[in-house]
Amino acid sequence: MQKTLLSGVKPTGEAHIGNYFGAMRQFVDRQDDYRQFIFIANYHALTSVSDGALLQNLTLELAMDYLAIGIDPKKTTLFLQSDVPEVTELAWIFNTITTVPYLSRAHAFKDAEAKNKEVNVGLFDYPILMAADILMYGADIVPVGLDQKQHIEIARDTAQKFNRIFGETFKIPEAMILEEVKTVPGTDGRKMSKSYGNVIGLFASDEEIRKAVMSIPTDSKGVDEPKDPSACKIFAIHELFPGENTEALRARYIAGGIGYKEVKDLLVEKIIAFVSPMRARREEIARNPEAVLKILREGGEVARAHAQRMMDDVRGKVGLTFK
Ligand code: ADP
Ligand code: TRP
Repeated sequence: MQKTLLSGVKPTGEAHIGNYFGAMRQFVDRQDDYRQFIFIANYHALTSVSDGALLQNLTLELAMDYLAIGIDPKKTTLFLQSDVPEVTELAWIFNTITTVPYLSRAHAFKDAEAKNKEVNVGLFDYPILMAADILMYGADIVPVGLDQKQHIEIARDTAQKFNRIFGETFKIPEAMILEEVKTVPGTDGRKMSKSYGNVIGLFASDEEIRKAVMSIPTDSKGVDEPKDPSACKIFAIHELFPGENTEALRARYIAGGIGYKEVKDLLVEKIIAFVSPMRARREEIARNPEAVLKILREGGEVARAHAQRMMDDVRGKVGLTFK
């Protein structure tokens, strides 16, 4: 039987090349081989976006991004997380078998606490809602960036725990993380992230791309000095993009004779060449938002039918319904 692939992205800001190379590209590459569910994690976004009109906008934008990179709604069930409200019910049931000390060990929560942020209960419970997303549709594999690895482990633990208590119900999912991508660095050297304002937007204009790349800090090595490509964030971004000149560039780093200005100019060219066709497709898609909403609605119906079947079983097993 065909295996199931599932993943989601939060609509919390402009999609960037870290999202694309870390996760989104795989959704396109795999859609012929798997039964595929891809969604917009708008319930998760509520943990950080508290402006209804903004969330609607970001949601529609992300739907357009998915379509522009090549997600085909005929092959992939593309939907809004909130069109399947059953997922919050499943998260609630998982909450009741999850301990507070266990969730307190999650990185996202610990990081927020360490920064003295006021953590909302939704953020604390974020991994459990994510486990519900994954387990609801019987996902075999979940392509994500490295930063989400712990969340997939929590989903696995939760499936195992539920199965142990209530009997075999959920499949144990596997994370799919691209080794060669790991974490794409942002323009300030930290992980590229919507929440750090250090992104190179996947659909940015030529000018925005140039500005973002030029802002990447470099050391003070002169043009002639040899440089270590593996220690250079600009080189790390170069490596993501196809093009036979990456190896030549590596050799020039090691030999000396290339300055950071040239490295950045080459990178700008490479990014623009890569994103231009997707950007054009996105402009086309953006002309008809109604068609995008229709795709989401139809995807939502398909996803919800799966979820309802799963919840019938779960409700019976935990004793909420009588059979
Ligand atoms: P962000 O951190 O920008 O808010 P999300 O948390 O919405 O991004 O992540 C969406 C997907 O993109 C996830 O699978 C995540 O692991 C991946 N991802 C995000 N940032 C990066 C990055 N810098 N490098 C690789 N993958 C990333
Ligand atoms: N937490 C993920 C992120 O920040 C988004 C997400 C929500 C997700 N539910 C998911 C990813 C289920 C994969 C599977 O990127």
